[in-house]
Amino acid sequence: MSGVRMDNERRANTDFGWRHIMKIGIILGSTRPGRIGEGVAQWAYKIASQRTDAEFEYVDIADFDLPLLDEPVPPSLGQYSKEHTKRWAEKIASLDGFIFVTAEYNHGIPGALKNALDFLFAEWNNKAAGFIGYGSAGGVRAVESLRLVMGELMIADVRAQVQLSLFADFENYSIFKAEERQEAALNVVIDQVVRWAGALKTVRESDAAIKS
Ligand SMILES: Cc1cc2nc3c(=O)[nH]c(=O)nc-3n(C[C@H](O)[C@H](O)[C@H](O)COP(=O)(O)O)c2cc1C
Repeated sequence: MSGVRMDNERRANTDFGWRHIMKIGIILGSTRPGRIGEGVAQWAYKIASQRTDAEFEYVDIADFDLPLLDEPVPPSLGQYSKEHTKRWAEKIASLDGFIFVTAEYNHGIPGALKNALDFLFAEWNNKAAGFIGYGSAGGVRAVESLRLVMGELMIADVRAQVQLSLFADFENYSIFKAEERQEAALNVVIDQVVRWAGALKTVRESDAAIKS
């Protein structure tokens, strides 16, 4: 275990303002049949689950059967009317941070991921996120555009990111076989997300205290 990770686990287990174990969702953002993102998200979940500094949950957008946004009222007003929205909102509300697993489609993120982000507002606010991108250029263009969306949703996005190359980290551009160095890269992303998730929980708690 790296010195940095040991430090982070010590911090997470010590009372520096966040006493709760953070729940981090690993969110699979591509939904098409045959998606290679599934192997990527499962890899990330397996590595994350070996850690003791947070709890991790595998969240597949496809399981929520979200149609194209069909809420009549903008999500920032928090008046969700559809069962699928309420179910998705409940899942995201239960999480303190996110690792988004995103493909790159036409230099942006998959429409399914943008749609799932657009469905909600308050449930995303004041939480932390990191990214795993994949594509011919490591998914970096998709992640850069995703970072712009994070600001509007008040999600704090960490600096580190995993960049998986279709040429180096997949066989025949389809079978996921990450280069060895990617595990360390993923753990840095998780280190940063867990710390910021803990810090931002205090913001949400103080907001809740003011409202009550
Ligand atoms: C609609 C579409 C657009 C794509 N555009 C890009 C792109 O801009 N850059 C890139 O690196 N790969 C692009 N690709 C290739 C994807 O990286 C590759 O198909 C990958 O398998 C997609 O992830 P998924 O299988 O999880 O859906 C595109 C694929 C699709 C389906």
